[in-house]
Amino acid sequence: MATNPANPNYQHRHLLGIEGLSRQEITALLDKSEQYVEQNRQADKKVDLLRGRTVVNLFFENSTRTLTSFELAGMRLSADVINMSVANSAIKKGETLIDTAMTLNAMHPDILVVRHGESGATQLLAEKVNCAVINAGDGSHEHPTQALLDALTIRRRRGDLEGLVVAICGDIVHSRVARSNIHLLVTMGARVRLVAPLTLLPSSVAQMGVEVFHDMKKGLEDCDIVMMLRLQNERMDGNFIPSIREYFLFFGLDYDKLSVAKPDALIMHPGPANRGVEIDSVVADDFSRSVIREQVEMGVAVRMACLDILAQNIQEERLGNL
Ligand code: CP
Repeated sequence: MATNPANPNYQHRHLLGIEGLSRQEITALLDKSEQYVEQNRQADKKVDLLRGRTVVNLFFENSTRTLTSFELAGMRLSADVINMSVANSAIKKGETLIDTAMTLNAMHPDILVVRHGESGATQLLAEKVNCAVINAGDGSHEHPTQALLDALTIRRRRGDLEGLVVAICGDIVHSRVARSNIHLLVTMGARVRLVAPLTLLPSSVAQMGVEVFHDMKKGLEDCDIVMMLRLQNERMDGNFIPSIREYFLFFGLDYDKLSVAKPDALIMHPGPANRGVEIDSVVADDFSRSVIREQVEMGVAVRMACLDILAQNIQEERLGNL
């Protein structure tokens, strides 16, 4: 494979997951994102980089943060951005995912950004199209840009991920955010603790390179980062918790449980948050500790970096250089 001088450290056509990426590749994506954080704080946020390129956002599941930030990211890079409305599309007449993707592919997009309820759907689609594909969340599998924006938020606050103790708490089994974050944090040298009831942990937890806790105060002791997860009721088939009240009592983040973490421990949540379920409202809104709004800001920068790098890589590939 020839080296693409624009992106020597990220040579892939797609971004489908964090699993399998090296420390250098993750660092390259974070370093590029850093440039866009500064640009997004200027009055003039727009650059000409992707003029003439087409980005299609194809979301089969609801989204506020990811869809809006991908749209904004594409617009700030001057790409033509289409948000395909699945609710008003031929999918409602029975067209399949692959036929939909092939139809869009025939219109020569450069990048497809896809969110789908089934794990593996974006991988399948990426094998069929000749543009770049970004996974914006597939089932309970991966949400790579969320993990990147979380890492960027932590890196900007703490300087480095290496050696940090990160407690990921709550509904791990249904969470693509948890899966992508575990891969990223372990690769970058952080110590990851999963804190959850047995019913909300995946069976593969032993192979993940993490420590497991079933008690919040034990899992949060002296940790640097507390990452809370939403209870994903839409992915639950049956009862995973006795009641919301009991779940909040034992696993909801409040000041009492937080008191055992480091005094400057950061509170994170990918959103949307269920206030009073996995996190107390006052803790979520305590902006001396909570970086939830900062995570959203970093999301735009990360998505600009991913569009930038993948647009360059697909162009190099089409020119036969990659
Ligand atoms: N964190 C996240 O993916 O949020 P949305 O569902 O709003 O995109």
